[in-house]
Amino acid sequence: MGQTLRSQHPDRCITPFRDRHSPGSHLDAVGTYRGDVFDLNDRIALVTGAGQNIGAGIARALAARGATVHVNDVVAERAQQVAVAIRQDGGRAEATPFDVTDLDAVATAVAGIGPVDVLVANAGNGGVGGLPLAPFRDLSPEDWRRIVDVNLFGVMNCCHAVLDGMVERAWGRIIGIVSLAGTMGTRVGVTPYSAGKGGAAAFLRSLALENARSGVTANAVALGLMDTGNPTSLTGIAKGIPVGRLGTPEDVGAICVYLASEEATWVTAQTIHLDGGTSPT
Ligand SMILES: NC(=O)c1ccc[n+]([C@@H]2O[C@H](COP(=O)([O-])OP(=O)(O)OC[C@H]3O[C@@H](n4cnc5c(N)ncnc54)[C@H](O)[C@@H]3O)[C@@H](O)[C@H]2O)c1
Repeated sequence: MGQTLRSQHPDRCITPFRDRHSPGSHLDAVGTYRGDVFDLNDRIALVTGAGQNIGAGIARALAARGATVHVNDVVAERAQQVAVAIRQDGGRAEATPFDVTDLDAVATAVAGIGPVDVLVANAGNGGVGGLPLAPFRDLSPEDWRRIVDVNLFGVMNCCHAVLDGMVERAWGRIIGIVSLAGTMGTRVGVTPYSAGKGGAAAFLRSLALENARSGVTANAVALGLMDTGNPTSLTGIAKGIPVGRLGTPEDVGAICVYLASEEATWVTAQTIHLDGGTSPT
């Protein structure tokens, strides 16, 4: 049991927070965080769709905390550029291009990486073909399938490839990047996208519960509108964000660092809204 520390005030004794908390806590003897909080050294991370924008921000953030990051994108040159930039900044990163909708390609790539500790399933939007903004009545079944394919099956394919290893090693972090379009709904013309994102969040929730005793957590981060070059038809939404600005890749990187960390071990089966206050709970 921990000793009692005497504070500067002679009448007050402080029981170390670590001893009130849990063994091996990330808190030091006087209850302040040690410098290595959210340390991702020795972790191997795979971030899908990380060749630009949000995924690139996530990859940079994980690498900055010490992770070795496999930068995935279906466009190999994008993955390569992000990996090179992270290495130039002193981080550890490899380009690992594949298409998340191709189950065999995902399995082969993950086998090539070896153990994956952290999966951030970020690849989404409209996938390779782009995201049409159109009423459901004007969309074709091919559009629905293509969009659900990347936003839902892409996530499932990647989880399937990494999960056995995480369970065997009794440690893993799975983070899916979803959207308010999938949790709240929207009328901007993205119904298949909403279906894919809502499906991914629901999938991750049950996956988390199914594996909750295994040391593997799974969570979804539902993003509001981000500053990633949106069509002008969406600028009206930006004005309504309570904090008064769009989200950034750095905002998403920060929450992914936390969810990937040892400290987030009790956070699982959640859909966390990262949206500048757009959807108060
Ligand atoms: N931008 C927003 O406002 C916003 C809002 C909510 C949620 N999101 C979600 O955040 C994530 C990232 O968004 P973004 O704006 O950075 O996207 P983006 O379209 O700018 O970048 C996505 C990257 O994923 C890659 N990609 C597409 N299909 C792929 C596939 N099949 N396999 C591997 N890589 C593939 C693309 O080549 C691209 O480099 C997506 O899941 C998106 O749905 C974005």
